[in-house]
Order: sequence, then structure tokens, then C-alpha cells
Amino acid sequence: MSRIAIITGASSGIGKAFVKALLEAPDCPERIWITARRLDRLEQMSSLSDKIIPIKADLLTHEGIEVIKSKLASEKPEVALLVNSAGMGRRGNIADRASSEIEDAVNLNCISLSVLSREVLPYMSSGSRIINIASTAAFLPQPGFTVYAASKSYVISFTRAFAQELKGTGIKVTAVCPGPVNTEFNSLATDGASSEFTGFRKLVAADADKLAAASLKASRRGRVMFVYGFFQKALHVASKLIPVGLFLKIFYR
Ligand SMILES: NC(=O)c1ccc[n+]([C@@H]2O[C@H](COP(=O)([O-])OP(=O)(O)OC[C@H]3O[C@@H](n4cnc5c(N)ncnc54)[C@H](OP(=O)(O)O)[C@@H]3O)[C@@H](O)[C@H]2O)c1
Repeated sequence: MSRIAIITGASSGIGKAFVKALLEAPDCPERIWITARRLDRLEQMSSLSDKIIPIKADLLTHEGIEVIKSKLASEKPEVALLVNSAGMGRRGNIADRASSEIEDAVNLNCISLSVLSREVLPYMSSGSRIINIASTAAFLPQPGFTVYAASKSYVISFTRAFAQELKGTGIKVTAVCPGPVNTEFNSLATDGASSEFTGFRKLVAADADKLAAASLKASRRGRVMFVYGFFQKALHVASKLIPVGLFLKIFYR
């Protein structure tokens, strides 16, 4: 039985950084299944190592989830690590976004992440780990990024409760909460208007490779919540201390 890792959203950004960090890690399993929709990008990554197995899967569709489920069922590997990194967000008020975009964001960020976490469980054992990429956007409601922030709150709540359910099994689940990270995410979020973060976000934007390496460490240590970066940790504390209504009033004045 081969030991594998599964990394979703591996064709770019944080997911891709996880693949690279895992390849350098001492506990890298025999195979890394990498998934996304853009197969050409995944195939390019195969040149990094023969451990990499590219799998084209659109996680917004039942067929996409089924591709991973059937491969698990036919190969029956031991899943040492699942990284749920596939995610999306679109900026703009709810009234200005299409219903289908709202549906897609919730489906990808919440439903596919939860379903995959469930589907890998029969293939996991003590020492296996799941990493769910949440966001500091989860800490407070974000007008203008409403659905995204709410979907990431779901990821934190899901991870915390799931980790509790798994107590005694030796399987660890970690919610990773980065602030802005330099990837393709912002360009997609702004419909191509801005490929880079601006203002304060630019100042604190993190490097995906460093984030991935630090997140793997946090997951090995069994951390349930991992907030990455000094400013993000400060924001996390502030979000617990300041009443949400007051925070929104000051911040969005
Ligand atoms: N970048 C940031 O500032 C930031 C901050 C906090 C949290 N995050 C979170 O980090 C995670 C990774 O984001 P990123 O920054 O790496 O963004 P990214 O560079 O845009 O990567 C997103 C990944 O998700 C995949 N994906 C998108 N739609 C998919 C679908 N329908 N089915 C399967 N895969 C799909 C994309 O691959 P394909 O397009 O090839 O399918 C891509 O590999 C997300 O959950 C995001 O919310 C990002």
C-alpha cells in the first residue's frame, strides 16, 4: 500500500508551494496526487519529481470529486496528508456579483473541502493530517468580500469541530489562516483589475513558499489553528477583543 499526499489547488499559488515544500520535507510520502482544472500546469509540475501524479478535477462538479474518490477506491493508498488549498473569492458587493459566483465560492471553499476531508478518512490512520486553507478574512465580516469572508469562517468552524471529533484517532486537522499572499488570487478576485495587492495589504503580503513550509510544520505539531504572520496574529487578537459592530463602523467609515 503506498503512502500518498493529496494537494488540491496545486496548479498555482499556495497549493503549488505546498507541493514544493512537501518534496523537500523529510516526511514526504511516496506519491503526491496534485489536483486542479488546468492539467497542463499540473503536468509541468511533474518534472519536479516522479512522485507527482497530476489529476485533472473540477471540484465544483460531482464528476471532479468522483475522479478523486474512484482513484482512492481503486488504489486504496494510505493518505498521509490532504491539503485543501483550492479556493476562490470575488470582490464586490453581493448586488454586483452573479448568483452563480456566490454559489461557486461556497461550493468550492466550503462544500468540496468538507466532502474531500470526509472521503479521505477511511484511508487515514494515526499520524495522518489534513490542512485546510482558511484566511484571516474569516475573523470578521468583510463588506465587499462578504461571501469569501463568510466561507472562510466556515472553514475555521469546520476544522475546529472536526479536529475535536477526531480526538483519539491520531489524525490531525489544521486551519491555516494567512493574510494576503502573493499568488494569482488577487487578480482573479478583482476580475483582472489588480494583479498585485496595494496599500497596507502589499506591505504585509506573504510569500507562498514560506507560508507552505511553516504550515507543514504547524500541522506536524498538531496545531488546530495556525495564523501566519505578526500582523495577522494581531488582527486575530483584535477581532476577539473589539465588538464586531464597532470594528465594522470604524473600519468602513
Ligand atoms: N492569496 C491570498 O491572498 C490568500 C490569502 C488567504 C487565503 N487564501 C486561500 O488560499 C487558497 C489558495 O489560493 P491561492 O492564493 O493559491 O490562489 P490561486 O493562485 O488562485 O490558486 C487557486 C487554486 O485553486 C484551484 N481551483 C480554482 N477553482 C477550482 C475548481 N473549480 N476546481 C479545482 N480547483 C480549482 C486553481 O486551479 P485551476 O484554476 O487550475 O483549477 C488554483 O490551483 C484558497 O483557498 C484561498 O482562499 C489565499
